[in-house]
Amino acid sequence: MATALAYEQFDGVPDADCDARIRAAKEKLGARAVILAHHYQRDEVFRHADFSGDSLKLSRLAASSQADYIVFCGVHFMAEVADILSRPDQVSILPDLAAGCSMADMANYAAVRRAWKELAEISDPDARVTPVTYINSSAALKAFCGDHGGLVCTSTNARHVLEWAYKQREQVLFFPDQHLGRNTAYRMGMSLEDMAEWDYSRPLGGLTPAQIKRAKILLWKGFCSVHQMFRPEHIDAFRQHHPEGKVISHPECSFEVCQKSDHVGSTEYIIRTVAESPAGSRWLVGTEINLVNRLQQRFQDEDKIVQFMSPMACMCSTMFRIDPQHLLWTLENLVAGRVVNRIKVPAAEAESARVALNRMLDVSP
Ligand code: 13P
Ligand code: SF4
Repeated sequence: MATALAYEQFDGVPDADCDARIRAAKEKLGARAVILAHHYQRDEVFRHADFSGDSLKLSRLAASSQADYIVFCGVHFMAEVADILSRPDQVSILPDLAAGCSMADMANYAAVRRAWKELAEISDPDARVTPVTYINSSAALKAFCGDHGGLVCTSTNARHVLEWAYKQREQVLFFPDQHLGRNTAYRMGMSLEDMAEWDYSRPLGGLTPAQIKRAKILLWKGFCSVHQMFRPEHIDAFRQHHPEGKVISHPECSFEVCQKSDHVGSTEYIIRTVAESPAGSRWLVGTEINLVNRLQQRFQDEDKIVQFMSPMACMCSTMFRIDPQHLLWTLENLVAGRVVNRIKVPAAEAESARVALNRMLDVSP
């Protein structure tokens, strides 16, 4: 295969030129390439998507795609899932390899293995504990769940996944997002006393054996730095000024924020809920700013006001790494018959991770 075009030739290409060249490259590639984009992508990239969605929808789209190339405008774990769920001859591409997820990085294979070993000091975790990983995690952790009778969840199906998990075993180890775990378990009827926070920097998660035994769910102490910016006092201030307004939050927000919200759900759920609300509605939205701004623009003709929850603009800086220049670089290389930034999960790891992902897809609504 000929040498790939170097990224340096694309760095600094003005956005408007990128736009025209991306369209031209897409035209040439036709059905051979599909562009999938997460809702947090910036507009200059999002507008080129063939399909957009939340993590669950994008996983399904990747699994059913017939394209040779799946160009994933999202973050690393999403492109890994696309690789795992697509055919071996299909190629998953992440336009910028630096587009990771800081929350996913808060749990790694070594730390989860260590936790599992520590749990074994109390009683055999394979008999007692179902490991559940949020899709925002490495393929290695999905493989761990596949190998230990566990599964993956997304913000859309976390409840269905937990219900399945408790049918298998009495306790759940949930990683890496404590908030999704806590918010979901609480809505299923568990009390905060039924939950224990697993501090992965401390032996036994910083818990006593009695606390571990008592907990129905062990919540890995990970979080999303974007969603932790939203505070209950932002909701209080909004309600004071707009008592008729509605509040909707992503379940990666803190327990206090979700408790004060009228609705809690995935990015796809947030879009649907705002879309279905009556003309003239006012919304306060606790999720990433690119999505919130897009909602505001999309619904301004219906006189809806869609407001970002924090007074400070906080975007997902890793989602933002995917810019038109990197997308153009990837596509023009494909046109020239070269693949750059392929995401390939090692076969054995992919096989175990696929078990955990398929369990999730089987229990998802
Ligand atoms: P969704 O699956 O709801 O789109 O969430 C993905 C994500 O990373 C939110 O921070
Ligand atoms: Fe990860 Fe948070 Fe960005 Fe979502 S918003 S991709 S959880 S860092």
